[in-house]
Amino acid sequence: MSGAVSGAASGAASAAVAFPQDRTCPYHPPAAYQPLRETRPLSRVTLFDGRSVWVVTGHAEARALLSDGRLSADRTKEAFPTPTRRFKGLQSRRAALLGVDDPEHNRQRRMLIPSFSVKRTAALRPRIQETVDRLIDEMAARGPEAELVGSFALPVPSMVICALLGVPYEDHEFFEEQSRRLLRGPEPADVEEARRQLDTYLEALILRKRTDPGDGLLDELIATRLETGETDVEELVALAVILLIAGHETTANMISLGTFTLLRHPEQLAELRADPSLMSEAVEELMRFLSIADGMLRLATEDIEVGGVTIRPDDGVVFSTSVINRDEEVFAEPDSLDWNRPTRHHLAFGFGIHQCLGQNLARAEMEIALGTLFRRLPGLRLAADPDRIPFKPGDTIQGMIELPVTW
Ligand code: HEM
Repeated sequence: MSGAVSGAASGAASAAVAFPQDRTCPYHPPAAYQPLRETRPLSRVTLFDGRSVWVVTGHAEARALLSDGRLSADRTKEAFPTPTRRFKGLQSRRAALLGVDDPEHNRQRRMLIPSFSVKRTAALRPRIQETVDRLIDEMAARGPEAELVGSFALPVPSMVICALLGVPYEDHEFFEEQSRRLLRGPEPADVEEARRQLDTYLEALILRKRTDPGDGLLDELIATRLETGETDVEELVALAVILLIAGHETTANMISLGTFTLLRHPEQLAELRADPSLMSEAVEELMRFLSIADGMLRLATEDIEVGGVTIRPDDGVVFSTSVINRDEEVFAEPDSLDWNRPTRHHLAFGFGIHQCLGQNLARAEMEIALGTLFRRLPGLRLAADPDRIPFKPGDTIQGMIELPVTW
């Protein structure tokens, strides 16, 4: 895996940096990534299996590369990099959207775009608000203490994605557990077994819906795409898996980590409480600041000249969004949480053809969840020593494992 290196961006200073690594503070990039900031825009890092890959850390270079068709997202390719030991087995399974290149990717994405438009998402807002209010009512009735991940951060997006897809929420314990195993293992066998379980569950659901339709997105896809022969059951299952998982895990982590981060920034929180109209800017800045999906992966298929280096075919490329979104050339004082500056061009939802399909939905959920939580529980505070509250390891989506709060 040798990428020809030229010029100052040799990455020599970062040659020994392992990727990914655990964060030291849940809302800052790992301290061990500091050398990567000094060798922007690209350098080399070492994966768990000893493989050396490119890490992209410059904002402009990341935008250019994420829109470059010479980088593939097809993880079934032999040389596709694996970020952690437990994901090895997933390489052979059929993926949808995130794991496929154009033109197949474009065909799959076109089937879903109308359901995730700004307009369709806006129509879901009353339902999201209702869900959020109900969960806070329940928490308040049991209070004045709660574990916020289990009682709020996870159920909000989980209920919303179930309603959107037409997946019965009664099954949430099952798919939340499989999703946790799929993302965090710990063993490769856990990951494979979780994927198998999710495939089996969603296939059975789709087959049931063929004869007994409901009114969710899966039902719509069955009627308009499956019965017309435009897609098959296997592809629909793969699409359902990614929508179900991406639809609840990521947003749940943003709600839990976003709450923790605001509680650790009392000045900013006071500003937000005084002027709730800042919420949409605050969510955008939290997305940049937290960059919870840190380490998007690609494989080069041709020579690519970028940032003074040449990426070669079969080189692995990883995008460290936590470092990219703190590029001083784009964001002044990037290590501070500050929504009073332009922050919208962060890359926390990715960029290019794979840019997050659910971003409008995620924004609506985060705005409503965080806005309502801090409005309805004005005395909200942490109920444990912040340094002892467990958060997720570096090789998965970042977020809190637990979040004990009181009010
Ligand atoms: C705050 C929460 C979220 C974050 C941080 C997030 C982040 C991301 C990122 C970084 C990507 C691009 C990955 C890559 O290029 O390798 C992505 C893609 C995707 N996201 Fe999200 N996401 C969030 C919420 C959601 C929600 C609510 C859904 C709803 C179903 C969703 C569905 C998807 C899908 C389907 C893709 C693949 C798109 C494609 O390949 O064309 N995401 N997301």
